[in-house]
Amino acid sequence: MSAPLTVVVLAAGKGTRMKSGLPKVMHRVAGRSMIGHVLATAAALEPTCAVVVLAPGMAEVEAELRRSALEPAVAIQEPALGTGHALMAARERIPAGGRVLVLYGDTPLVTAETLRQLLAAVDDVGAAVGVLGMRPPDTNGYGRLAFDARGLEAIVEERHADEALKRDGLCNAGIMVIDRARLDPLLDALEPKQPKNEYYLTDIVEHARTFGWRCTAIEGPWLEGVGVNSQAQLADAEALLQGRLRRAAMAQGVTLVAPDTVFLACDTALAPGVEIGPYVVFGPGVEVAEGAQIHSFSHLEGVRIGPNARIGPFARLRPGAEIGESVHIGNFVEVKNATFEAGAKANHLSYIGDATIGARSNIGAGTITCNYDGFGKYRTELGERVFIGSNTALVAPVTIGDGAIIGAGSTIDHDVPPDSLSIGRARQADLPGGAVRFRAKKSRGSK
Ligand code: UD1
Ligand code: CA
Repeated sequence: MSAPLTVVVLAAGKGTRMKSGLPKVMHRVAGRSMIGHVLATAAALEPTCAVVVLAPGMAEVEAELRRSALEPAVAIQEPALGTGHALMAARERIPAGGRVLVLYGDTPLVTAETLRQLLAAVDDVGAAVGVLGMRPPDTNGYGRLAFDARGLEAIVEERHADEALKRDGLCNAGIMVIDRARLDPLLDALEPKQPKNEYYLTDIVEHARTFGWRCTAIEGPWLEGVGVNSQAQLADAEALLQGRLRRAAMAQGVTLVAPDTVFLACDTALAPGVEIGPYVVFGPGVEVAEGAQIHSFSHLEGVRIGPNARIGPFARLRPGAEIGESVHIGNFVEVKNATFEAGAKANHLSYIGDATIGARSNIGAGTITCNYDGFGKYRTELGERVFIGSNTALVAPVTIGDGAIIGAGSTIDHDVPPDSLSIGRARQADLPGGAVRFRAKKSRGSK
């Protein structure tokens, strides 16, 4: 059995540089909060214990933690006096033995594979501390790793680093492995540093060396170590993760006609053979089966799309849409919490919400399910092979039987039996010659 592993995620920082009301780690990257990414990656390592360090009053973050399979414990840091102080706040929740992996809640792109490499590097040399290094194109704001003949010597925060180290040093990704048996003396050795009077976790490397303990570092892919301190860095992280997700989709056999214009969520599940046109946006929770085509400018969130379905261009599929095999959803059609069974079609300009559309039914242009009366939501149920004429209002709750035909322009407010031809509109009135008389009257009036 491998040694016990405790993961500690530091997330108590105020994130003032984000200039937003939301706790920093709740900002989203590819449809998932940064802390959500870190927890999902940590879960893949199957740690024996997980602790997240928060500041008081971070209710949104605590709710996010409850959604995680990791079920982490929460340690409260008050006040926030730096990353070293944050780990001290978690200390009493870290069981004895094994290793402690420290992750930062604002470093969402790291992968489990790189973390495993770091753990292995620490085990190889029996290091007290192991650090993930990287060489990002923009080094601004990162600490630098200093080495000597015995390995990693110190982590120097940027503001304390000399020019040579700033220029040449590996950057600190902020991810660290610490031998649990040596954690307490290392934390006890920390002292607050100027200018902000903070305890830097990074100082434990220097202290370990003073105690004669070995420290080590590996260089990981820089993309994985990108830390988010500002809105601009959040956008950078988004772009990097989008690149990774698009390449992964294409490697799976998905066709992306213009990959740079397609936005995926980290959980988007696209089967091989799916085709995605330019400018398509996927929110969280979308699954698309083989052979389906998603045309340009469509927006999808929380939906399942069956084999060989055709979506868009300009379709909006909202949570709870279940799109069956070979269904067509065309331009300016909005679908919410509705099931389209195999072969059903809504090709133009419709709102279908809280509904079931039976197999091979056809929804004409301008059909609206009137699902909301200002108080409650009601369902519209269509059987199989129903034909809904254009510009029909279906006033829910309402059920339409198999094979029924609804005349164009109808307002349908009560149930329609199977195979009925139902028309619910005012009769047309024709006045022969009426137009001539109308024009004559108007032209007399204007003289
Ligand atoms: C930190 C590192 C720096 C590294 C960089 C990588 C230190 C002193 N510096 O700098 O070497 O290159 O990350 O991105 O560690 N946090 C708390 N409590 C606190 C302060 C911070 O929980 O009192 C949490 C934050 O929520 C955040 C993480 O720790 O998730 C990192 O803090 P941050 O202030 O962003 O550190 P950096 O200045 O980026
Ligand atoms: Ca940071």
